[in-house]
Amino acid sequence: MFKSIFTALTIFAVSVSAIALPPHLPRNVNENLRRAPGQVVTSCTVPNTAALTFDDGPWVYLYDISKALVAAGAVGTFFFNGDNFGDCIYTADQAKRVKYAYDKGHQVASHTWAHKNLTTLNWDQIHHQMWLAEEAIFKITGAYPAFVRPPYGEHNGLVRDAARVRGQTIALWDFDSRDWALGADEVKQLYTDLAKRRPSNVLTLNHEVHQHSAQVVLPHAIKVLKDAGYRLVSLAECLGQPAYTVTGPPATRDASWTCQGK
Ligand SMILES: *[C@@H]1O[C@H](CO)[C@@H](O)[C@H](O)[C@H]1NC(C)=O
Ligand SMILES: [Zn+2]
Repeated sequence: MFKSIFTALTIFAVSVSAIALPPHLPRNVNENLRRAPGQVVTSCTVPNTAALTFDDGPWVYLYDISKALVAAGAVGTFFFNGDNFGDCIYTADQAKRVKYAYDKGHQVASHTWAHKNLTTLNWDQIHHQMWLAEEAIFKITGAYPAFVRPPYGEHNGLVRDAARVRGQTIALWDFDSRDWALGADEVKQLYTDLAKRRPSNVLTLNHEVHQHSAQVVLPHAIKVLKDAGYRLVSLAECLGQPAYTVTGPPATRDASWTCQGK
């Protein structure tokens, strides 16, 4: 525990150097680290675990998702954007959702700032997109996310290097619920089929911003996965890795809690 926190703090210090430093890392901050890309995870490792992950929030359905999970003795993982669909993470309502998820024991993680295709960006732009979302999550919860999910799951060497320098694991998925494309009944069927196949563990992709995902599909997914004997845990727990590089008290709202000019 201490060792990993120390390692995390070291990486944190090298890459971000507390919150006062400018968001852009100098290109030459650590060329050795940049040679090996950040780890890309597509599956859980702990047997009999299912990690339900929810992208593109925070949004109004977060409360439904949290309540369904908590009622089942489960937690989920939220990959938050900072400024997606014009919904700024720093508004009072949005920040409250982020804090609520964290306080309920769900894992909070970065889906980067504005849901850009990171493979189209340069080194500084990638860090900017990563930093802004991490900063917001850190200020709102006091926890610095150790996981990032690049929008669309798109990554290249530069993105992996950036995640590595930031001490982060890139998290994808091995089951796409396709809730972004399909109706509730079809998505429910995919979960039924998944539970029947019964892989050793499962890392699912869902979207917090769809009402049917939160209110119709999720209760079904929880039921079939639990009936199949899975423990519904956070992504970090299904991997046996820490969810955060640093945890502490949340910050107090100030003028920096804004999406303006970012
Ligand atoms: C992201 O950008 C890459 C490089 O231009 C492109 O190949 C890929 O299709 C893009 N992905 C999406 C989801 O737009
Ligand atoms: Zn997304």
